[in-house]
Amino acid sequence: MSNVHVMDHPLIQHKVSLMRDKETGPKEFRELLNEISMLMAYEVTRDLPLKTVEIETPICRAQTKVIAGKKLAIVPILRAGLGMVDGIMSLVPAAKVGHIGLYRDPNTLEPVEYYCKLPADAEEREILLVDPMLATGGSASAAIGFLKKRNCRNIKLVCLIGAPEGVSRVQADHPDVDIFIAAMDEKLNDHGYIIPGLGDAGDRLFGTK
Ligand code: PRP
Ligand code: URA
Repeated sequence: MSNVHVMDHPLIQHKVSLMRDKETGPKEFRELLNEISMLMAYEVTRDLPLKTVEIETPICRAQTKVIAGKKLAIVPILRAGLGMVDGIMSLVPAAKVGHIGLYRDPNTLEPVEYYCKLPADAEEREILLVDPMLATGGSASAAIGFLKKRNCRNIKLVCLIGAPEGVSRVQADHPDVDIFIAAMDEKLNDHGYIIPGLGDAGDRLFGTK
């Protein structure tokens, strides 16, 4: 069974609360998501392997650590996942970015794929699949399925808010994928929105409603 990591650092909790507030406009919403994504990236990358290199400081030669050759790819689920890319990239600027386009059919709540473009060597990279909302889990589970079909095996799912239903769905469908969230909410409403959640993340990010 995959591990679920709830990153409840006080700074993250504070910023998530600001994002939940319906009075928070798109500019501040984007900035907060950016900041939280950066804070989450710090923890998500905690197990990156290191190697020892020799360098020369102004004082002497020294053996010191750098991140080993393992490469990262950040894959946002369009649209709302885009809001998490820059924050992570500011910590890992060498990461490549792939995109998976999915929208949730409002009637069936089933994910519909409309775009997929990954780095050519995606299967050799550790993939951070990012999307602020994990509601029914249909979108995340389908996106992980697409990545696996393209031979990606080393995948972490990074979301802002998770509903128990979505977390359980991903755990059941993809027990090998660890899940990182900033908050675990109560449940879904009848329209598949997370309660209390923050509303429609894509619309709030891009001001489309
Ligand atoms: C939202 C969100 C997730 C999905 C979560 O996207 O960003 O991708 O819903 O719901 P699920 O867990 O029930 O699949 P949406 O379909 O609203 O598309 P958008 O990002 O283009 O707004
Ligand atoms: N997608 C969103 O943007 N918000 C929700 O609460 C559920 C799915």
